[in-house]
Amino acid sequence: MYKINQNRNICIGCGLCASVCPDYWTMSEDGKASLKDTGLELENLGCMRDAADSCPVQCISITEK
Ligand code: F3S
Repeated sequence: MYKINQNRNICIGCGLCASVCPDYWTMSEDGKASLKDTGLELENLGCMRDAADSCPVQCISITEK
């Protein structure tokens, strides 16, 4: 099981996460990405790995638990 966290304070709103992984990420009205409820805890990372890898400020963290 993986737990996903986003350090929203440092998100610059580049939109890559929502672009490569729209199942779990959406862009909010404040211009930053928000994690959908479906992406809080994951059995399989799927596109979440791509989202974390593509974030230019590395604010998406994946913790195995
Ligand atoms: Fe923000 Fe990183 Fe996504 S900067 S919009 S969390 S790719």
